[in-house]
Amino acid sequence: GATPSQVLPQPAERRSTTTDRQETPRRYLMCPPAHFEVSYAINPWMDPAAPVSRERALDQWHALRRVYEGLGHRVEVIDPVEGLPDMVFAANSGTVVGGRVLGARFRSAERADEAAHYRRWFEANGYADVTMPVHVNEAEGDLTWTGRLLLAGTGFRTELAAHAEAQEALGVPVVSLRLVDPRLYHLDTALFVLDDQGPDPLIAYYPPAFSPGSRQVLERLFPDAVIADDTDARCLGLNGVSDGRHVVLPLEATNLAARVALRGFDPVLVDVSELRKAGGGPKCCTMELRD
Ligand code: ARG
Repeated sequence: GATPSQVLPQPAERRSTTTDRQETPRRYLMCPPAHFEVSYAINPWMDPAAPVSRERALDQWHALRRVYEGLGHRVEVIDPVEGLPDMVFAANSGTVVGGRVLGARFRSAERADEAAHYRRWFEANGYADVTMPVHVNEAEGDLTWTGRLLLAGTGFRTELAAHAEAQEALGVPVVSLRLVDPRLYHLDTALFVLDDQGPDPLIAYYPPAFSPGSRQVLERLFPDAVIADDTDARCLGLNGVSDGRHVVLPLEATNLAARVALRGFDPVLVDVSELRKAGGGPKCCTMELRD
């Protein structure tokens, strides 16, 4: 017979969901924004003249960490370093696939020293296969593992030559994509993976962030993708983190949250307003350790 929950009215969209989404346990590396500030501008979001609260940034970061832990994921923490205010954006300092690590080489002098701190963390935490790139490579900022392919962004930060280097270092097929909107300067501000477990990965992306050719590549590879709109992109809503079921998004990304819910995911909205003043969101703060 019907249980009470089955007779409760449900949104029509929700009823049409055919897939039961299943999360898989994740391990993340994060860095508390203990030295956070906006003292230079290397992307259009950063305004050194605007007020920034380090305390609020720390609160938002701790809340994000608690969300992951509350979902049953493991969070490793690297020590923040004074003078490196963007070190909170852990995703930019390494790409880990199958236990192999490709480190970072930052485009800007302001962030250059972050790479060595993360490299030391990898070496101290049991990673035997660590490659440091020759070409500019801002790691998961521009490199997105779908479970089958490494999608690789270029145009503002990571160099095209770094894509071939990533393919060689990680032993995974790489597909290059060209970014064209300066406010969406990293691939992880324009695209993220919702499901990396099945034979057909599911992604969400914002088409206007990409060159015409790259949009066609995305349409061919991911005909089923969730398409984000302007309001989603304007709050860096594509900077999401999914465990296959729960999708962590900036709280302003309400359209995107509704769209992923239509596909059977559970959106989890977080306030990242302070971190966004440096041009980051949930994903930027979160490096996935795929061991
Ligand atoms: N201020 C940092 C930069 O411009 C923000 C990085 C955001 N991280 C990200 N994965 N998109 O480099």
